[in-house]
Order: sequence, then structure tokens, then C-alpha cells
Amino acid sequence: MALRETIVEVAKDVARRAVRVPTVQHLIERAESLANEERNRMGPAEPVAPPSPPPPAVEPLTAPLGQHGKQERYGEYWDFYVDREFPELVQRDASGNTVFTWPGDEWGDEQYWRQSFDKMFKQHVPPESTRFAEIGPGSGKYSLMVLEAWKNATVAAFDVSRSYLKVLEKRCAPLVADGRLRPFVIEDRPDIIDRTAEQLGWAGELDCLYSMDAMVHVDLQYLVAYWLSAARTLRIGGKLIMSVADATSDGGFNKLVGDVPVCFPLQGKMCPKFEWLSPQLVEQVLGRLGFVIEATYNFNHRDFFFVARLERRPTP
Ligand SMILES: C[S@@+](CC[C@H](N)C(=O)[O-])C[C@H]1O[C@@H](n2cnc3c(N)ncnc32)[C@H](O)[C@@H]1O
Repeated sequence: MALRETIVEVAKDVARRAVRVPTVQHLIERAESLANEERNRMGPAEPVAPPSPPPPAVEPLTAPLGQHGKQERYGEYWDFYVDREFPELVQRDASGNTVFTWPGDEWGDEQYWRQSFDKMFKQHVPPESTRFAEIGPGSGKYSLMVLEAWKNATVAAFDVSRSYLKVLEKRCAPLVADGRLRPFVIEDRPDIIDRTAEQLGWAGELDCLYSMDAMVHVDLQYLVAYWLSAARTLRIGGKLIMSVADATSDGGFNKLVGDVPVCFPLQGKMCPKFEWLSPQLVEQVLGRLGFVIEATYNFNHRDFFFVARLERRPTP
């Protein structure tokens, strides 16, 4: 097995097991064990016929190229994940211990989702709040928790992936039909949240903008567009709730280093690699936009979980 295929197998294996923080040691051990398995299968004699059945012809970690030989939209990777990669995980795991129903079930577990929701949302967002915006809802696990806890609330949910939004609409059909959950696709313009807030009559009155387990994949140049929208559309005192990848945490550092073999060949391609920040960077940039960090949490030793409060609007 070529080194790249081995690494890709390891990465897929890590993803399948929902191991959220692969270490260098883990990658090396799995690569060695896969190499041993391969040697045993092939035996010491002349190479025999290739193993059957052949590995699936799915190029992992990047979406296929579009008709012009390039990926057309950033969201295509996430469409690819929903349409092609997730169904494979479901099939494989159906014979094992875990069965995943919705894309996103494979990341973390119920205890982590509940704990992060209870601490970051329930403790910081007032019970009378009604206007929420979510970025990267995926199939809606946090949208559902918000709409369950805030019975009079509406969530405007923004995602780059049309496939994910279709799943969201299916999973949360009654809430979408009631108008309590409003899905919006993010295209190329950075002011989508502002424009939507205007249309909904929420401009400057949003209670909470949140994004969980999604902005770990988004670089600061892009993320700052969302933070600027938050500073313009939240009410003063409104909350920005988010998790981002922290390269200065133990788990973050391990992942940063452990992902080198997988990510290096993918430079410039659309893929789910992490984009790294640090608490200091987040605090300083948000401070300039008028936010103060109200609370921080550590649920997985890798990401920086924060609740920021809008104190003043930035001067345009
Ligand atoms: C790992 S999933 C998490 C989904 C959901 N928040 C959850 O916890 O199950 C990442 C989500 O973020 C979306 N996403 C990725 N990059 C994004 C971006 N730049 N802007 C908005 N959404 C993005 C993906 O399409 C996907 O829905």
C-alpha cells in the first residue's frame, strides 16, 4: 500500500471511529498496523492478485472536481460529505456498534452536545430571547435544542452546503413549516446575515448568533465576516456563542501536528481541514469589534469555546 493511501486509510479510520483528537502516535501505530496487515495478506512470496474487493473508488477528504476541472463552490466539499461520505459511514457502522441517522451524529456524543448547550446557551442567553441566528447548522442538532429551550424563538440558519440544508429541512420539517426555523444558503456575498436580519426586521436586535463545531473549519479572513455581521446585527448585550480550533491547547497542538501528512498534499483544495486560532487572537480581534469575552469553556481539550457579549458597535 502506498504511503499516501495508508495515510488516507488511517485518516478515514480515525474519522469513522469519531476520534476527535488523533495523535501523531496514533497515526504512526495505525499506519504500522495497516502495513503489517498488508504484508501478512500478501505473504513473503511473489505478489499475488490484488485484494478483492478493491477499495471504494472514493477520493477521501476532497470533493470531486466540477465540469471545469475545479471545484466551483466552497460548500461543495460539505455537499460531498453529506451525499457520498456519510452514507458510507452509515453502511459500515450498521454492522458494528453504532448506527448514525443524521450527518453530524458521528461527531461527539449526546453528553458533549448537552453539556455544551446547557453551559454555553442556557446560562448566558436570557429566557425571553426570540431572535437567533446559527452558522453551520449541519443537520440541526443545536437548532433543535435552541428551539426546544426557547419556545417563542425563531432561528435563521445559514450554511454553505445545500445538501446539509436539505437534510436540515427534512429533519426539522415541522419547525420549518411553522417558520420557526428559516434555512438560508450562504453564497459569495459576505453580508448575507445582515441582509437577512433586515428582511426579518431583526437588524440590530438579534439576541444570539451561534456556531458550534463548524467554525473550526473556517479561516480568520472568512470568519471575521461573520463576526462583523454579529457586531452589526446583535443588540447591545446580545451574545456571540462559538467554538473555534485552538492550536495552543494540548489537543489542538496534537491535531495540528498529527494532521500534517493528511493535509499537506491537500494545500489549496477544498477539504475539512482545521483552521487554527488561539484564545488571545479571538479575544483581541473581537475586542476591536466591540465584544468582551463573557465566559470560556473547555469541553474537549482542543477547541476554544467562548461566549462573547456585544458592548458597543464598531465604528463603520
Ligand atoms: C462539522 S459540521 C457541524 C454541524 C453542526 N453545527 C453540528 O454540530 O452538528 C460543519 C457545518 O458547517 C458548515 N460550514 C462549513 N464551513 C462553513 C462556512 N464557511 N460557513 C458556514 N457554514 C460552514 C458545513 O456545511 C456543516 O454544516
